[in-house]
Amino acid sequence: MNSSAPVMETPTVGWVGDAASGFVRLIDQTRLPVELVEIDLHDVASLWEAIKSLRVRGAPAIGIAAAYGAVLGAQEAPLGTLADLKEVVKAATDHLRTSRPTAVNLFWALDRMDAIASVYEGPVAPLLGRLLDEARSIHDEDRAMCRSIGSFGATLVQPGSGILTHCNAGGLATSDYGTALAVIFSAHELGKNVRVFADETRPLLQGARLTAWELQRRGVPVTLICDNMAAQVMKEGKIQMVVVGADRIAANGDAANKIGTYGVALLARAHGIPFYVAAPSSTFDLSLVDGSLIPIEQRDPREITEGFGKVTAPTGIDVYNPAFDVTPAQLITGIITERGIISPVNADVIRVALG
Ligand code: MRU
Repeated sequence: MNSSAPVMETPTVGWVGDAASGFVRLIDQTRLPVELVEIDLHDVASLWEAIKSLRVRGAPAIGIAAAYGAVLGAQEAPLGTLADLKEVVKAATDHLRTSRPTAVNLFWALDRMDAIASVYEGPVAPLLGRLLDEARSIHDEDRAMCRSIGSFGATLVQPGSGILTHCNAGGLATSDYGTALAVIFSAHELGKNVRVFADETRPLLQGARLTAWELQRRGVPVTLICDNMAAQVMKEGKIQMVVVGADRIAANGDAANKIGTYGVALLARAHGIPFYVAAPSSTFDLSLVDGSLIPIEQRDPREITEGFGKVTAPTGIDVYNPAFDVTPAQLITGIITERGIISPVNADVIRVALG
């Protein structure tokens, strides 16, 4: 497979048709790996539900989907003035902002859509086309960012490495090639003979359902492990590198990612294994001085007590279900971005790298 081939033969998310009557089509990730099914979303409410329930998930993919959601919002406006249309678009983007709190790409993409609407002057109808153009730009830029992250990241991979990853930061989480998995796909294409160890990623099993599925389809050697096996696998010398994605990175480099990532970073440090975060510049939130300010999504207790429809805990049990944790910058060897590798990870280096 050559390096320009898309990872996802079926696009993770996309727009079908024109701005006035088109709709969002995306892979329903809740149904993987059992079946690869696309769903069509024609209104903001359905798109909000798709983000909330993780039919589309992963920070960049959420941002792209939400950007297209702003176009759906514009379609929902009754015939009226430009001011009316702008108001409806703003109401739609405000609503989409409430779907999930942690991935900053959601807010970054919606800020871009809001900016297009707010500065637009002219006849009413063309605004829809302008919004769709912006959503498509966000989508295309993400594709390019992922490829660049893959190229930079592959330089860090030693031939024959075992690489551990957590959650899913692949084609399903982005426009196409992934962030953490872009590093792995690129290294694989360069013939570096890597083997991936994929944490299954409790409680929603993004590692087992999505990462293992993507890597297997792509022909990358992958071994699935339970989250609580990572320490043992590291001790056995099977891991030479950890690479994960991120949902939001604070100005000092503290990085929020799927719950369990912080534990993996601690294990990597204890075993002297380099720990990398791969993320585009759109995942940085320089308005937050450190990771303690990153909002952490709390999810439905039933994801733990009766995940995938099977009751596994006593009725009425207290549950704590944060969806993300924050890995302190000191535990991160480097952050692989589309602009290059940030290392050491601290506020000064990040500020210079992101310009
Ligand atoms: O809850 P999810 O599945 O949306 O969480 C996704 C992650 O934590 C990913 O690692 C992160 O968004 C990076 S995706 C390139």
